[in-house]
Amino acid sequence: MASNITLTMIKPDAVAAGHSGKIIDMIIQAGFRVQAMKLTRLSTEKAQEFYAVHSARPFFGDLVKFMTEGPIIAAVLEKENAVEDFRKLIGATNPANAEEGTIRKAFATDIERNAVHGSDSNENAAIEASFHFAGVERF
Ligand code: CMP
Repeated sequence: MASNITLTMIKPDAVAAGHSGKIIDMIIQAGFRVQAMKLTRLSTEKAQEFYAVHSARPFFGDLVKFMTEGPIIAAVLEKENAVEDFRKLIGATNPANAEEGTIRKAFATDIERNAVHGSDSNENAAIEASFHFAGVERF
């Protein structure tokens, strides 16, 4: 099967806590190739745009506040079966339900401050990768 991609963000909680290096190492050890990566910070408008699908949810305002509170690391990751394999690596949205050995089990605080994002479909991975990176920034 041809390799495909997923988009991750190491979220402000994990960056501020100094977990970025360990998280990136887990990602690479799991067989993902980094196509693009940057340290950046989302504006309120960009966070609202990224999470627009959740705009009607009661947690939307808090989520936007959280995702703009400090820098994030965005990355495009390549691997066969990238979306599904990455979601297995990061574990359940709520770290209380995340399996041992997953990134969220190790580094997430709660269902909102859950350390990392992973795309939920190939279609959204392509949209999210273009949201963060221009074509010339991907290798
Ligand atoms: P993520 O995988 O980035 O996708 C949407 C984000 O919304 C999720 O991770 C969490 O950070 C947050 N989220 C999802 N469900 C809840 C919830 N019930 N309460 C608070 N935050 C949530």
